[in-house]
Amino acid sequence: MPDEIDALREQLDAETIESEEDAEAFRIKYLGRNQGAITELFDRIGDLPPEERPEFGKRVNALKARAEDRLEAARARLEREAQAGGADVDLTLPGRRGFRGSTHPLTQTLEEILRILRGLGFSTYEGPEIETDWHNFSALNFPPDHPARDMQDTFFLRDAPTDEPTVLRTHTSPGQIRIMQEQDPPIRVAVPGRVYRNEAISYKSFCLFHQVELLYVDEGVTMAQLKQVLYSLARALFGDDVTLRFRPSYFPFTEPSAEVDVWWADEDADDGGQWMEILGCGMVHPNVFDAVDVDPERYTGYAVGMGVERMAMLRHGIDDIRIFYENDARFLDQF
Ligand code: DAH
Repeated sequence: MPDEIDALREQLDAETIESEEDAEAFRIKYLGRNQGAITELFDRIGDLPPEERPEFGKRVNALKARAEDRLEAARARLEREAQAGGADVDLTLPGRRGFRGSTHPLTQTLEEILRILRGLGFSTYEGPEIETDWHNFSALNFPPDHPARDMQDTFFLRDAPTDEPTVLRTHTSPGQIRIMQEQDPPIRVAVPGRVYRNEAISYKSFCLFHQVELLYVDEGVTMAQLKQVLYSLARALFGDDVTLRFRPSYFPFTEPSAEVDVWWADEDADDGGQWMEILGCGMVHPNVFDAVDVDPERYTGYAVGMGVERMAMLRHGIDDIRIFYENDARFLDQF
Protein backbone atom coordinates (compact mmCIF):
# COMPACT_ATOMS: atom_id res chain seq x y z
CA MET A 1 0.00 0.00 0.00
CA PRO A 2 2.71 2.60 0.83
CA ASP A 3 4.21 2.00 -2.62
CA GLU A 4 0.96 2.96 -4.21
CA ILE A 5 1.04 6.38 -2.52
CA ASP A 6 4.65 6.96 -3.60
CA ALA A 7 3.82 5.93 -7.17
CA LEU A 8 0.86 8.28 -7.26
CA ARG A 9 3.00 11.15 -5.98
CA GLU A 10 5.57 10.55 -8.69
CA GLN A 11 2.89 10.42 -11.35
CA LEU A 12 1.31 13.59 -10.07
CA ASP A 13 4.65 15.42 -9.99
CA ALA A 14 5.31 14.50 -13.59
CA GLU A 15 2.07 16.05 -14.89
CA THR A 16 2.38 19.21 -16.94
CA ILE A 17 -0.26 21.91 -16.58
CA GLU A 18 -0.09 24.37 -19.48
CA SER A 19 -3.70 25.49 -19.79
CA GLU A 20 -6.98 25.85 -17.92
CA GLU A 21 -8.07 22.57 -19.50
CA ASP A 22 -4.96 20.80 -18.20
CA ALA A 23 -5.67 22.20 -14.75
CA GLU A 24 -9.25 20.98 -14.77
CA ALA A 25 -8.20 17.55 -16.05
CA PHE A 26 -5.60 17.34 -13.29
CA ARG A 27 -8.20 18.25 -10.67
CA ILE A 28 -10.65 15.59 -11.87
CA LYS A 29 -7.97 12.94 -12.24
CA TYR A 30 -6.54 13.28 -8.71
CA LEU A 31 -9.02 15.18 -6.61
CA GLY A 32 -12.38 14.55 -8.32
CA ARG A 33 -15.19 13.50 -5.95
CA ASN A 34 -15.91 10.53 -8.20
CA GLN A 35 -12.96 8.29 -8.77
CA GLY A 36 -10.30 10.89 -8.27
CA ALA A 37 -7.12 8.87 -7.57
CA ILE A 38 -6.51 10.49 -4.20
CA THR A 39 -10.19 10.43 -3.31
CA GLU A 40 -10.20 6.70 -3.91
CA LEU A 41 -7.26 6.22 -1.55
CA PHE A 42 -9.32 7.86 1.19
CA ASP A 43 -12.21 5.50 0.41
CA ARG A 44 -9.91 2.56 1.08
CA ILE A 45 -8.91 3.59 4.59
CA GLY A 46 -11.79 1.54 5.97
CA ASP A 47 -10.40 -1.66 4.43
CA LEU A 48 -7.12 -1.40 6.32
CA PRO A 49 -6.34 -2.99 9.66
CA PRO A 50 -7.05 -0.36 12.34
CA GLU A 51 -3.39 0.01 13.37
CA GLU A 52 -2.35 1.07 9.86
CA ARG A 53 -5.09 3.59 9.37
CA PRO A 54 -3.57 6.66 11.11
CA GLU A 55 -0.27 6.46 9.22
CA PHE A 56 -2.00 5.82 5.93
CA GLY A 57 -4.45 8.67 6.46
CA LYS A 58 -1.64 11.05 7.27
CA ARG A 59 0.23 10.19 4.09
CA VAL A 60 -2.84 10.43 1.87
CA ASN A 61 -3.65 13.82 3.42
CA ALA A 62 -0.13 15.01 2.63
CA LEU A 63 -0.51 13.82 -0.94
CA LYS A 64 -3.82 15.61 -1.26
CA ALA A 65 -2.28 18.85 0.00
CA ARG A 66 0.56 18.42 -2.48
CA ALA A 67 -1.89 18.01 -5.37
CA GLU A 68 -3.91 21.04 -4.24
CA ASP A 69 -0.78 23.21 -3.95
CA ARG A 70 0.33 22.15 -7.37
CA LEU A 71 -3.06 23.02 -8.84
CA GLU A 72 -3.24 26.37 -7.13
CA ALA A 73 0.26 27.38 -8.20
CA ALA A 74 -0.45 26.37 -11.80
CA ARG A 75 -3.67 28.38 -11.89
CA ALA A 76 -1.96 31.45 -10.46
CA ARG A 77 0.77 31.18 -13.07
CA LEU A 78 -1.77 30.82 -15.90
CA GLU A 79 -3.59 33.89 -14.63
CA ARG A 80 -0.39 35.97 -14.57
CA GLU A 81 0.51 34.86 -18.07
CA ALA A 82 -2.94 35.77 -19.36
CA GLN A 83 -2.58 39.26 -17.90
CA ALA A 84 0.87 39.67 -19.41
CA GLY A 85 -0.61 38.96 -22.83
CA GLY A 86 0.09 35.32 -23.31
CA ALA A 87 2.61 32.73 -22.26
CA ASP A 88 5.35 33.86 -24.61
CA VAL A 89 6.45 36.96 -22.76
CA ASP A 90 10.13 37.64 -23.32
CA LEU A 91 11.35 38.31 -19.82
CA THR A 92 14.75 39.39 -21.13
CA LEU A 93 13.32 42.47 -22.88
CA PRO A 94 14.16 45.76 -21.16
CA GLY A 95 11.27 47.25 -19.18
CA ARG A 96 9.16 50.05 -20.61
CA ARG A 97 10.51 53.44 -19.66
CA GLY A 98 8.02 55.52 -17.69
CA PHE A 99 7.15 58.88 -19.23
CA ARG A 100 8.92 61.75 -17.55
CA GLY A 101 8.23 65.34 -18.43
CA SER A 102 11.14 67.78 -18.58
CA THR A 103 11.48 71.54 -18.38
CA HIS A 104 11.46 73.16 -21.82
CA PRO A 105 14.97 74.28 -22.84
CA LEU A 106 13.71 77.85 -23.26
CA THR A 107 12.29 77.85 -19.75
CA GLN A 108 15.56 76.42 -18.45
CA THR A 109 17.58 79.18 -20.12
CA LEU A 110 15.15 81.86 -18.97
CA GLU A 111 15.26 80.60 -15.39
CA GLU A 112 19.03 80.48 -15.51
CA ILE A 113 19.22 84.08 -16.78
CA LEU A 114 16.84 85.29 -14.06
CA ARG A 115 18.72 83.35 -11.40
CA ILE A 116 22.01 85.00 -12.39
CA LEU A 117 20.34 88.42 -12.53
CA ARG A 118 18.85 87.95 -9.06
CA GLY A 119 22.40 87.43 -7.85
CA LEU A 120 23.31 90.75 -9.49
CA GLY A 121 20.53 92.56 -7.64
CA PHE A 122 17.70 92.53 -10.22
CA SER A 123 14.17 91.74 -9.13
CA THR A 124 11.61 90.45 -11.64
CA TYR A 125 8.71 92.40 -13.08
CA GLU A 126 6.16 91.27 -15.66
CA GLY A 127 4.08 93.47 -17.93
CA PRO A 128 1.14 92.60 -20.20
CA GLU A 129 1.53 91.01 -23.64
CA ILE A 130 -1.23 93.21 -25.04
CA GLU A 131 0.13 96.75 -24.96
CA THR A 132 -0.99 100.19 -25.94
CA ASP A 133 0.83 101.74 -28.84
CA TRP A 134 1.91 104.42 -26.37
CA HIS A 135 3.71 101.99 -24.02
CA ASN A 136 5.17 99.91 -26.83
CA PHE A 137 6.33 102.80 -29.03
CA SER A 138 5.53 106.46 -28.19
CA ALA A 139 6.78 106.54 -24.60
CA LEU A 140 9.93 104.78 -25.80
CA ASN A 141 10.66 107.71 -28.11
CA PHE A 142 9.72 106.00 -31.37
CA PRO A 143 8.82 108.74 -33.84
CA PRO A 144 5.29 108.44 -35.35
CA ASP A 145 6.64 107.27 -38.70
CA HIS A 146 9.16 104.74 -37.35
CA PRO A 147 9.20 101.60 -39.54
CA ALA A 148 8.71 99.28 -36.53
CA ARG A 149 5.21 100.72 -36.16
CA ASP A 150 4.37 99.39 -39.57
CA MET A 151 1.76 96.64 -39.96
CA GLN A 152 4.50 94.60 -41.59
CA ASP A 153 6.26 94.22 -38.26
CA THR A 154 3.60 94.67 -35.64
CA PHE A 155 0.42 92.76 -34.84
CA PHE A 156 -2.33 95.30 -34.18
CA LEU A 157 -5.46 94.27 -32.33
CA ARG A 158 -8.72 94.95 -34.14
CA ASP A 159 -11.01 94.45 -31.14
CA ALA A 160 -8.94 96.29 -28.61
CA PRO A 161 -10.17 96.72 -25.03
CA THR A 162 -9.57 100.49 -25.28
CA ASP A 163 -9.91 103.19 -27.94
CA GLU A 164 -6.16 103.54 -27.99
CA PRO A 165 -4.26 101.71 -30.72
CA THR A 166 -3.34 98.34 -29.22
CA VAL A 167 -0.63 95.87 -30.22
CA LEU A 168 0.86 92.60 -29.22
CA ARG A 169 4.05 93.91 -27.64
CA THR A 170 6.93 93.74 -30.09
CA HIS A 171 9.54 93.81 -27.33
CA THR A 172 9.77 93.81 -23.51
CA SER A 173 10.88 97.46 -23.46
CA PRO A 174 7.36 98.71 -22.57
CA GLY A 175 8.07 96.99 -19.24
CA GLN A 176 10.53 99.85 -18.62
CA ILE A 177 7.69 102.33 -19.01
CA ARG A 178 5.29 100.43 -16.76
CA ILE A 179 7.74 99.93 -13.91
CA MET A 180 8.77 103.59 -13.99
CA GLN A 181 5.10 104.60 -13.89
CA GLU A 182 4.62 102.41 -10.83
CA GLN A 183 7.82 103.01 -8.88
CA ASP A 184 10.26 105.81 -8.20
CA PRO A 185 14.02 105.26 -8.66
CA PRO A 186 16.14 103.52 -7.66
CA ILE A 187 14.81 100.74 -9.90
CA ARG A 188 16.65 97.57 -10.81
CA VAL A 189 14.45 95.05 -12.60
CA ALA A 190 14.49 92.26 -15.12
CA VAL A 191 11.37 92.00 -17.31
CA PRO A 192 10.99 88.58 -18.92
CA GLY A 193 8.25 87.74 -21.38
CA ARG A 194 6.89 86.81 -24.77
CA VAL A 195 7.02 89.24 -27.64
CA TYR A 196 5.39 89.08 -31.06
CA ARG A 197 6.48 90.12 -34.53
CA ASN A 198 4.76 89.87 -37.84
CA GLU A 199 7.76 88.34 -39.57
CA ALA A 200 8.38 85.75 -42.24
CA ILE A 201 9.08 82.53 -40.36
CA SER A 202 12.51 81.03 -40.94
CA TYR A 203 15.29 79.24 -39.10
CA LYS A 204 16.16 82.50 -37.35
CA SER A 205 12.83 84.24 -36.84
CA PHE A 206 9.48 83.17 -35.50
CA CYS A 207 6.26 85.16 -34.98
CA LEU A 208 6.75 84.98 -31.23
CA PHE A 209 9.84 84.74 -29.10
CA HIS A 210 11.08 85.67 -25.62
CA GLN A 211 13.09 88.55 -24.29
CA VAL A 212 14.50 89.67 -21.00
CA GLU A 213 14.67 93.42 -20.48
CA LEU A 214 16.92 94.98 -17.86
CA LEU A 215 16.46 98.43 -16.43
CA TYR A 216 18.60 100.10 -13.81
CA VAL A 217 17.79 103.70 -12.88
CA ASP A 218 19.45 105.63 -10.09
CA GLU A 219 21.60 108.68 -9.53
CA GLY A 220 24.97 108.31 -11.21
CA VAL A 221 24.39 105.11 -13.23
CA THR A 222 27.08 104.77 -15.91
CA MET A 223 27.80 102.84 -19.07
CA ALA A 224 30.78 101.25 -17.29
CA GLN A 225 28.32 99.66 -14.84
CA LEU A 226 26.30 98.41 -17.79
CA LYS A 227 29.37 96.73 -19.27
CA GLN A 228 30.24 95.22 -15.92
CA VAL A 229 26.81 93.65 -15.50
CA LEU A 230 26.80 92.30 -19.05
CA TYR A 231 30.21 90.70 -18.54
CA SER A 232 29.05 89.11 -15.30
CA LEU A 233 25.95 87.74 -16.99
CA ALA A 234 27.83 86.45 -20.04
CA ARG A 235 30.50 84.76 -17.93
CA ALA A 236 27.89 83.02 -15.81
CA LEU A 237 25.96 81.87 -18.88
CA PHE A 238 28.71 81.01 -21.35
CA GLY A 239 31.80 80.48 -19.21
CA ASP A 240 34.63 82.58 -17.78
CA ASP A 241 36.57 82.79 -21.03
CA VAL A 242 33.71 84.37 -22.97
CA THR A 243 34.66 87.22 -25.33
CA LEU A 244 32.23 90.10 -25.87
CA ARG A 245 32.24 92.87 -28.45
CA PHE A 246 30.35 96.16 -27.98
CA ARG A 247 29.27 97.80 -31.24
CA PRO A 248 27.74 101.28 -31.45
CA SER A 249 24.13 101.01 -32.55
CA TYR A 250 20.87 102.92 -32.58
CA PHE A 251 17.63 102.48 -30.61
CA PRO A 252 15.10 105.29 -30.13
CA PHE A 253 14.94 104.74 -26.37
CA THR A 254 18.68 104.71 -25.56
CA GLU A 255 21.51 107.14 -26.16
CA PRO A 256 24.21 106.09 -26.61
CA SER A 257 23.19 102.62 -27.79
CA ALA A 258 25.19 99.47 -28.37
CA GLU A 259 24.76 95.96 -29.58
CA VAL A 260 26.75 93.19 -27.96
CA ASP A 261 28.15 90.18 -29.79
CA VAL A 262 29.63 87.05 -28.29
CA TRP A 263 32.53 85.30 -30.04
CA TRP A 264 31.50 81.80 -31.05
CA ALA A 265 34.61 79.73 -31.66
CA ASP A 266 34.31 77.09 -34.37
CA GLU A 267 37.41 75.04 -35.07
CA ASP A 268 36.12 73.89 -38.45
CA ALA A 269 35.54 77.42 -39.75
CA ASP A 270 38.26 79.14 -41.81
CA ASP A 271 38.10 82.24 -39.64
CA GLY A 272 37.98 80.24 -36.38
CA GLY A 273 34.43 81.21 -35.49
CA GLN A 274 32.01 84.11 -35.69
CA TRP A 275 30.49 86.99 -33.75
CA MET A 276 26.88 86.37 -32.71
CA GLU A 277 24.67 89.22 -31.63
CA ILE A 278 23.06 88.55 -28.26
CA LEU A 279 21.55 91.82 -27.09
CA GLY A 280 20.91 95.53 -27.49
CA CYS A 281 21.57 98.04 -24.73
CA GLY A 282 22.28 101.64 -23.93
CA MET A 283 21.72 104.57 -21.58
CA VAL A 284 18.06 105.46 -21.12
CA HIS A 285 17.12 108.37 -23.41
CA PRO A 286 16.03 111.57 -21.57
CA ASN A 287 12.78 111.57 -23.62
CA VAL A 288 11.88 108.21 -22.07
CA PHE A 289 12.39 109.65 -18.57
CA ASP A 290 10.24 112.64 -19.54
CA ALA A 291 7.42 110.33 -20.68
CA VAL A 292 7.19 108.80 -17.18
CA ASP A 293 8.04 111.90 -15.14
CA VAL A 294 11.46 110.82 -13.98
CA ASP A 295 13.85 113.77 -13.75
CA PRO A 296 16.62 113.26 -16.37
CA GLU A 297 18.73 115.92 -14.65
CA ARG A 298 18.83 113.86 -11.50
CA TYR A 299 18.71 110.25 -12.72
CA THR A 300 20.51 108.21 -15.31
CA GLY A 301 19.93 104.61 -16.21
CA TYR A 302 20.82 101.77 -18.50
CA ALA A 303 18.55 99.39 -20.36
CA VAL A 304 19.19 96.02 -21.98
CA GLY A 305 17.10 93.78 -24.20
CA MET A 306 18.16 90.21 -24.93
CA GLY A 307 16.62 87.35 -26.84
CA VAL A 308 16.12 84.17 -24.83
CA GLU A 309 15.89 81.90 -27.89
CA ARG A 310 19.18 83.27 -29.13
CA MET A 311 20.82 82.52 -25.77
CA ALA A 312 19.38 79.00 -25.66
CA MET A 313 20.51 78.33 -29.24
CA LEU A 314 24.04 79.44 -28.38
CA ARG A 315 24.16 77.42 -25.18
CA HIS A 316 22.91 74.20 -26.77
CA GLY A 317 24.18 74.53 -30.34
CA ILE A 318 20.67 74.69 -31.83
CA ASP A 319 20.53 76.14 -35.33
CA ASP A 320 16.79 76.53 -36.00
CA ILE A 321 14.51 78.61 -33.78
CA ARG A 322 11.35 76.82 -34.97
CA ILE A 323 12.23 73.62 -33.14
CA PHE A 324 11.45 75.30 -29.80
CA TYR A 325 7.79 75.50 -30.81
CA GLU A 326 7.23 72.12 -32.44
CA ASN A 327 6.78 70.11 -29.24
CA ASP A 328 8.76 67.23 -30.67
CA ALA A 329 9.41 64.94 -27.71
CA ARG A 330 12.61 63.63 -29.31
CA PHE A 331 14.01 67.16 -29.11
CA LEU A 332 12.55 68.06 -25.71
CA ASP A 333 13.62 64.78 -24.06
CA GLN A 334 17.26 65.77 -24.40
CA PHE A 335 17.04 68.58 -21.88
N1 DAH B 1 13.77 96.42 -27.56
C1 DAH B 1 14.86 96.12 -28.47
C2 DAH B 1 14.38 95.10 -29.49
O1 DAH B 1 13.49 94.41 -29.24
C3 DAH B 1 16.02 95.55 -27.72
C4 DAH B 1 16.68 96.56 -26.85
C5 DAH B 1 17.74 97.31 -27.32
C6 DAH B 1 16.25 96.75 -25.56
C7 DAH B 1 18.36 98.24 -26.54
C8 DAH B 1 16.87 97.69 -24.74
C9 DAH B 1 17.95 98.43 -25.25
O2 DAH B 1 16.51 97.90 -23.50
O3 DAH B 1 18.56 99.33 -24.46
O4 DAH B 1 14.98 95.01 -30.54
